[in-house]
Amino acid sequence: MSMKIIGTGSALPTKKLENEELTKLVDTSDEWIRERTGIGARHISTGETVADLAADACRKALENAGREASEVELLLVATCSPETEIPCTACQVQKMLGAGNAVAFDLNAACSGFLFALNTVYAYLTAGIYRNALIAGTEVLSKIIDWTDRGTCILFGDGAGAVMVEQCVEGGMMGFVQHSDGSKGNVLACGSRKLENPWFLEKDFVPYVRMDGREVFSFAVRQVPASIEEALGKSGITVDDVDLFVLHQANRRIIESIAQRLKADISKFPINLDRVGNMSSAAIPVLLDELNSQGKLIPGMTLVLSGFGAGLTYGACVIKW
Ligand code: UT7
Repeated sequence: MSMKIIGTGSALPTKKLENEELTKLVDTSDEWIRERTGIGARHISTGETVADLAADACRKALENAGREASEVELLLVATCSPETEIPCTACQVQKMLGAGNAVAFDLNAACSGFLFALNTVYAYLTAGIYRNALIAGTEVLSKIIDWTDRGTCILFGDGAGAVMVEQCVEGGMMGFVQHSDGSKGNVLACGSRKLENPWFLEKDFVPYVRMDGREVFSFAVRQVPASIEEALGKSGITVDDVDLFVLHQANRRIIESIAQRLKADISKFPINLDRVGNMSSAAIPVLLDELNSQGKLIPGMTLVLSGFGAGLTYGACVIKW
C-alpha cells in the first residue's frame, strides 16, 4: 500500500511586497536581495491569519481532488507561526472547512514541516489507520520577523499550500528520509512567549527570528543533497530518473548549489521564490500547486520533494505522480 497526492491548492495574502519597498525600511537594495537570494517579492499578511490562508488552500485542494470536506479523515497542519497557541491551527481550519469527521492537529518542523507532515501522513495511511488526509503548510512569518533586521526581513513571505492525499495500491510515495539535529537549534531560532509569572521574569528574550545565515546556508548545501541521495537510494532509483526536484524555496544560490552537487540539470529545479520569498512550511505545497495548476505535473513523473530549515531539520521524499 502507498499514498498519492490527488489534489493541490494554495493561497497568498493580497499584499505583494516588492524589494523596492523594503529599501524604505532597512539599508538594503533590490540588487543585493536579487543577487544574494534570488527573491524579488513576497506576499505579506494585512490581516489574513495562518488559519484563513490554510483553509483557503485546503478548499482549493479539495476542489482539485473532487472531494468533500466531510470525507477528510485526517487534517494535519504544518506551521511555525500559529495565530494561537491553543486551539491548534488545524482545529481552526477544520471548523472553517466543516471537516467534522477529521482528526486535526498541528506539526512544527519549521521549513521541513510540510515534508515531515507528508511523511507522517504516509505512516498513518500505509498502516491502514486512515484512508485519506488533507495536509497544509501555512505561515504568517511576517509577525515573527524583526522588520529592522535586514539579514532576515528580506527573506520571508506569508502564504499557504495544501494537498489532499489518499491510499493507493500503485505509484505514489516511493520512499522518504527525515533528519533532525537539535544541537544546531541556535542558528535559526525564535522565542514564542516570555516566561512572565509572579515568580519569574525572563530577561534577554527575543520573540523574533534570529538567524546565522551563513551557517544555515552551508548546512543546506551539505545535508540536502546527501538526504536526497539517501531517499533516492531507498526508492531504488538515481538522480537521472528524477523529472523534477521540488525543493524548499530559501535561496536561489542554495538551490543552484544543490543541483550542482547532485550533478542534475538546474532546469529540473522549479523556482518561485523570486515571487513569494521563503514561506517556510508553505513553500513546497505552494510550488507544487503552481506546477499542478500549470499542467506541469504529468502522471508517471518522478518527483523529489525536499525540505530543510530550523531545528535543524531536513529530509526528502520521492513520489511517482
Ligand atoms: O528556510 C531556511 C531559512 N534560512 C535560509 O535559508 C538562509 C540561508 N542563508 C542565506 O540565504 C544567506 O546567508 C543570506 C541571504 C541570509 C545572506 O547572504 P550572505 O551572502 O551569506 O551574506 P552575509 O550574511 O555573509 O553578509 C554579507 C554582507 C554583510 O556586510 P559586510 O559585513 O560584508 O559589510 C552583511 O551585513 O551583506 C550584508 N547584508 C546586507 N546588505 C544589504 C546582509 N543582509 C543585507 C541586506 N542588504 N539585506
